[in-house]
Amino acid sequence: MALRNTSTSWGLPARALHWVNAVMIIFMIGFGVWMTGVTERSAAVRLPLYGIHAWVGIGVLTVVVARLLWRFVNVTPQPAVGGKVWQHRTATLVHWLLYLLVCTQCLLGWALVGTFPTDALKAMSGIEMLPMLVSTTDRSLHETLELVHYTMAMTILALVVLHVAAALRHHVFLKNNVLTRMWSGRQQVNQEDDYGKTVNQPGSP
Ligand code: HEM
Ligand code: HEM
Repeated sequence: MALRNTSTSWGLPARALHWVNAVMIIFMIGFGVWMTGVTERSAAVRLPLYGIHAWVGIGVLTVVVARLLWRFVNVTPQPAVGGKVWQHRTATLVHWLLYLLVCTQCLLGWALVGTFPTDALKAMSGIEMLPMLVSTTDRSLHETLELVHYTMAMTILALVVLHVAAALRHHVFLKNNVLTRMWSGRQQVNQEDDYGKTVNQPGSP
């Protein structure tokens, strides 16, 4: 099983990190909305949930940083043939936006923890072992960070929906192996689609 990426395939670490990261981020959005919306308003109920969310969130940040480091010491597979230049550019833009927004979102969440009037959350999330990005009880800063954190989560969700739609389009309509090479790491090979057109040829525009 190949560890390193090649110009036509993703190696095991890149694929594993992608899917672990995807599951964690989808969990973070769902869990975040649920935990802030639970009807029980007492701090005794909410704080442990916020603690779990923050703890997993630091895990997300760690995995994204690991992904980026691994990406910089590896080649990145060529885009699949069959798409237009603007589509490749859009895909690249969405990928980099996802990296950027997810990192920023984690830092915002980390800062948010430092605006709670109690230290209990820091202890519950294990964040007390890390330096605080912000340490204040300023209510308006807390509310601003909360709003930005929520808006950012919805923006990430919109980008993920776009990203998944594009992946499914490659798989179902363009019938290339963009999705399977991220899933199973199968080498990209030249193959013909239903119309006899060659797809997946590495190195093509
Ligand atoms: C929160 C969820 C997700 C995030 C943040 C995410 C992020 C990314 C990023 C940043 C890349 C670019 C990798 C790079 O060039 O370094 C990528 C590639 C990819 N993702 Fe996702 N992804 C997510 C979920 C999914 C899901 C659910 C699917 C499938 C339905 C998927 C399918 C793919 C595929 C097929 C590629 C490879 C594209 C290629 O080889 O050109 N992703 N993803
Ligand atoms: C990809 C990463 C993350 C995503 C997608 C995410 C998503 C969310 C969402 C959707 C909410 C609910 C917002 C609302 O309805 O008001 C939330 C709340 C929260 N998040 Fe995150 N989060 C992430 C990372 C983090 C991290 C790393 C931390 C802390 C280290 C964190 C701490 C919090 C806290 C404390 C709240 C509760 C805010 C409040 O209501 O006072 N989050 N997050």
